[in-house]
Formats: sequence, C-alpha cells, structure tokens
Amino acid sequence: MRKKHKQRKRSCSTYVQYGDCGGPEPLTVNQVKKLCPQRLLGCGSFACAYTSGRRKGSVVKFTMDPSDVAAFIAFKDKRVAKLRGAYKVGENDYAIVTEKLRQLSNRDKETLWLDKMRDTRDTLDTRSRRRGPTKKFSNGERMTFVRQCKSNACRKFGNELLDLHERAAKKKINLFDFHAGNFGKDKRGNWKMLDLGVSGKEPKHVPVLNGLKKLTS
Ligand SMILES: Nc1ncnc2c1ncn2[C@@H]1O[C@H](COP(=O)(O)OP(=O)(O)OP(=O)(O)O)[C@@H](O)[C@H]1O
Ligand SMILES: [Mg+2]
Repeated sequence: MRKKHKQRKRSCSTYVQYGDCGGPEPLTVNQVKKLCPQRLLGCGSFACAYTSGRRKGSVVKFTMDPSDVAAFIAFKDKRVAKLRGAYKVGENDYAIVTEKLRQLSNRDKETLWLDKMRDTRDTLDTRSRRRGPTKKFSNGERMTFVRQCKSNACRKFGNELLDLHERAAKKKINLFDFHAGNFGKDKRGNWKMLDLGVSGKEPKHVPVLNGLKKLTS
C-alpha cells in the first residue's frame, strides 16, 4: 500500500531578525496572523525576507530601511519585484510583501558580471572612458556599463541596467546598490531587483510612508 506523505504545514514565525542590525524582534500575535512569515530566505544589512504563509509565491520582508519601502511604492517597473503590500510594523520597522524571486545561479552571476559587483560604482560610470554599453540619459548625462562585455547576454544586461537606472532616476530614485544579492529571477526567467535600498535620506520619503497600513500592535 502506498504511504501517504502528509505535507507538514509550516507555522508562521514568531520573530524576525535583521542581518547585522540587531537580534530577533518578536512580532505581536496580530502581526504574525496578518503577515505570517515562514521560512527565512535571507538577510542583508537592513532587512530579512521570509516566505509568506498568506500568499503563495510571495515574500514578507522586514526592513529598517524606509527608502527601500518608499522606492517600492513609488517605482513599479518590469525589472523590479512586484509589490503586494506595505506596512509599518514598529517605530523604525516596515514590512513589505513582494513577489518571490529565485536566486541567480552562479553561472547567471558570472555571465551578468554580478559576481564582481559590489555596488553601482563598480557597474555604471559617468566618466567618458568607454568600455561596455553606453547610454545618454534624457538629462544629458552619459553613463557607461563599465564592463567590456564578451557575450551578448552581458551587453543586453548592461543596456537594460542603464535603462532601469534612468527610469528610476526620473522618479528621483537613485539605485546605487547593484550586487548579486539584490537581483533574482521571476517565474518567467526575467531578472529583477529585489532590493531598492537607496539614499537613506528619509524626509523626502515621509509622505509616501505616511499612507502605510499600521500593524504596530
Ligand atoms: N523578493 C524576494 N525574493 C527572494 N528572496 C528575497 C526577496 N527579497 C529579499 N530576499 C532575500 O533577502 C535578502 C535580504 O533582502 P534585501 O537585499 O532587501 O536586504 P538589505 O538588508 O536591504 O540588503 P543589502 O545588504 O543589500 O542592503 C536578499 O539578499 C535575498 O536573499
Ligand atoms: Mg540587499
């Protein structure tokens, strides 16, 4: 007789943790119920992301970076993970629910040169020294993808990154954190950014953040 494998339902986590910024933060009963973070996917310096027990294919990201939240709200883009919800969960803490992305393979990282990138300064350059694809922005600025690409995939990525950078700049969002951990792939295999952590200058983001649903208790 075939054994039935009962899939054990994961329960929601009762605490979240932030990368380098502190220890576990307990969630309230209401926050656990509403957000239901389950499996830890990863942490950076400001945020930790969990699979969502409320919505399949989504993640709940807890972050202390208001600029990441504000940029997600202000900037919908085909190269950015879809935003499905944004909440204030504490004095300086936010939760956003976004589309879950797959980690890039090592091969992807290498092809797209993401394995070498630490931030935008390693990636896009405004000096005239020409290397990879270059783009003149509508404000007259010229930017170059600093890698001399050998493959079409790399050239295509360079051009797409320049386009994304300009679209964000038009929304006054300065994307400056291009590194492998901030990119992933969606179900269709398209690369997208999962972290828009930007300038850290909070005041200009306040109006957008004031409209958030409050889940502080
Ligand atoms: N949409 C997502 N899909 C899958 N994993 C995600 C998603 N969002 C975040 N993660 C995981 O959580 C980690 C931390 O998220 P994020 O990069 O936003 O945090 P951060 O603290 O702002 O990072 P950084 O150190 O780059 O500033 C990511 O590196 C990734 O592993
Ligand atoms: Mg990150």
